[in-house]
Amino acid sequence: MKKTRVFSGTRPTGKLHLGNLLGALENYKKLQGQDAFFMIADLHALTTEYESKTTIAQNVMEVVIDYLASGLDPEKCTFFVQSEVQEHASLSLLLSMITPLGWLERNPTYKDQLQELKGKDLNTHGFLGYPVLQAADIMLYKGEKVPVGEDQLPHLELTREIIRRFFYLYKKNIFPEPEAVLTQVPKVPGLDGRKMSKSYNNCIYLADSREEVTKKIRGMMTDPARKTKEDKGHPEVCPVFFYHKLLNPERVEGVAHECRNALRGCVECKMEMATKLNEFLDPIRERRESWMKKKTEVRQILDQGAKRAREIASQTLRETMEAMGLVA
Ligand code: TRP
Ligand code: SF4
Repeated sequence: MKKTRVFSGTRPTGKLHLGNLLGALENYKKLQGQDAFFMIADLHALTTEYESKTTIAQNVMEVVIDYLASGLDPEKCTFFVQSEVQEHASLSLLLSMITPLGWLERNPTYKDQLQELKGKDLNTHGFLGYPVLQAADIMLYKGEKVPVGEDQLPHLELTREIIRRFFYLYKKNIFPEPEAVLTQVPKVPGLDGRKMSKSYNNCIYLADSREEVTKKIRGMMTDPARKTKEDKGHPEVCPVFFYHKLLNPERVEGVAHECRNALRGCVECKMEMATKLNEFLDPIRERRESWMKKKTEVRQILDQGAKRAREIASQTLRETMEAMGLVA
């Protein structure tokens, strides 16, 4: 049976956190046995980080090592770095010729980001064209399934629109319309109860030590109605409880009951959860440590990946250039 082509990308903006792991990576792991390509989107990182002093290349390494540590297997799937496969820039340019400006200006993610990242000057060609580059990423591999978070749905819709427009203009059926594969786990809460996100400074990182994790959990937000141990709690609003549900399934009923009836204190509850979380993170930490010592091997994995990616990407670029009349 023909395997499904799976494609996804991660922007290398730093170490991965628990939200990335439970959200994106679990989804990647499920799909890695298919014909899967996982790209580190360093060019996409450059759209917002072009003024930053830290090197994107260092973050690329962090992300790859986090991937490997979380159990993605380079024997089963292909990892590569976007800027190492020139075809991404080329196809993006070709697609930019047929993408109406209005589609990009109306993109809700674009408008949100302009608002959210007010400190940065994002009135650039590259930032507006972010979704065109993303469409090129997926299209080069004729991606069918794209594991992403909900925030990426507008970008995926735009990819499909570009594909339809390409077909309308050139009558060549080169690209399948990709479908999103969303994770089962809903938004993972951070230490303050808001969505876990680097920009909120509320993350637990895969690279955090046991001690750091325990310390962070100790300071974590709980149900605000529980000012003292005597107040009855509402586990459903408590971010600590979210993690019990995920990591402590055999105790979850008991925890909820004791919380609702003020039979357990929050400190005790947090420490029980921290233990479970550390048990969950231990094997990831160990693999992380060991890959950190094998950077040459990691480099080889990326070289191999880029080579495999190029084989497919160059073929698709060729077909696209033919369809658009650039080669006869
Ligand atoms: N825009 C995605 C994000 O911020 C990253 C990305 C780049 C991507 N290219 C992609 C995701 C292609 C899926 C497919 O998370
Ligand atoms: Fe949250 Fe546990 Fe405190 Fe209840 S007892 S509010 S679940 S930390």
